[in-house]
Amino acid sequence: MNRALSLEYAATIQYLQQQCLVTGQERQQFAPFFAASSSESHIHAQNLGNKIVALGGSPTIEPAKVREGKNLVEMLRYDLELEREALDAYFKAWKLAQGNPPLVFWLEEIISAEQLHVDELEKLNAAYA
Ligand SMILES: [Fe+2]
Repeated sequence: MNRALSLEYAATIQYLQQQCLVTGQERQQFAPFFAASSSESHIHAQNLGNKIVALGGSPTIEPAKVREGKNLVEMLRYDLELEREALDAYFKAWKLAQGNPPLVFWLEEIISAEQLHVDELEKLNAAYA
C-alpha cells in the first residue's frame, strides 16, 4: 500500500504542476481537469495514509517519480502511465488483502475510482494522439 501512496503523492504533484503550466485555448478545459485530479490524488493519499496507520504501518513520505510533460500530449501520456501504475499497485494490495473483507471492499472502491480515471485518460489520450 505504500507503493500506491507514493504514486498518489506523485500524481498530486504532477497534476498540480500541469494545472499551472497548461497554456493557450487548452487551458480553459484542462486547468480545471488537472486541478481536480490533483485534489483527488491528495484525498486518496490522505485516505491511504490513514488506512496504513490503522493497519499498524507507517505511511511513506517518498513520492514516486514525477514527470514533466513539455506539452499537453506529453502531460496526458505521463498521467495515463502514472494512473495505470497506481491501479496496478492497488490491485497488488487487493490480492494481498484477501482474508480481510473490510480491507478488500475498501480497496475495491478505490480500484473502481482509479479505473474510471484510467478510462478517462485513455479517451483523452486517444483524442490527442
Ligand atoms: Fe488516486
